[in-house]
Amino acid sequence: MFKFLPLLVLGVLASSYALPVAEEKEVVAILKSEVNKNEDGSYQINYEGADGTERKEEASVVDAGTENESLEVKGSYKYINDKGETVEVFYTAGVNGFVPYGTIINPEITSVAEAAKDLPNTQQDDVKS
Ligand SMILES: *[C@@H]1O[C@H](CO)[C@@H](O)[C@H](O)[C@H]1NC(C)=O
Repeated sequence: MFKFLPLLVLGVLASSYALPVAEEKEVVAILKSEVNKNEDGSYQINYEGADGTERKEEASVVDAGTENESLEVKGSYKYINDKGETVEVFYTAGVNGFVPYGTIINPEITSVAEAAKDLPNTQQDDVKS
């Protein structure tokens, strides 16, 4: 009897894993997909899906060749929400942070993030001293 117990346990486990739980997912066609990476580290990407999703982002090099060389990123993404509305979010990102703005972004978040960009970057200063 005990000899078969492990097999029984395995069988029960296997059958529970084999239950059809996979949900049907719609395959979305990619209408456009472009990636440009440049030697200096700057780049441009964008893609568009047949379901109305879109993403664009571009990064440019700031203070090239100095100790402060960094990327300034500008981008946006767009999708259709459950109500059929188009949602679009824009953002910038650079040495002093990420700033999102758009219809679904609380304007307070945008203004706080915008203000934070002008604060001294204390983390960077700590590393140097
Ligand atoms: C780099 O940034 C620091 C901090 O903002 C500044 O003190 C320094 O002068 C900058 N260096 C150059 C080469 O611009």
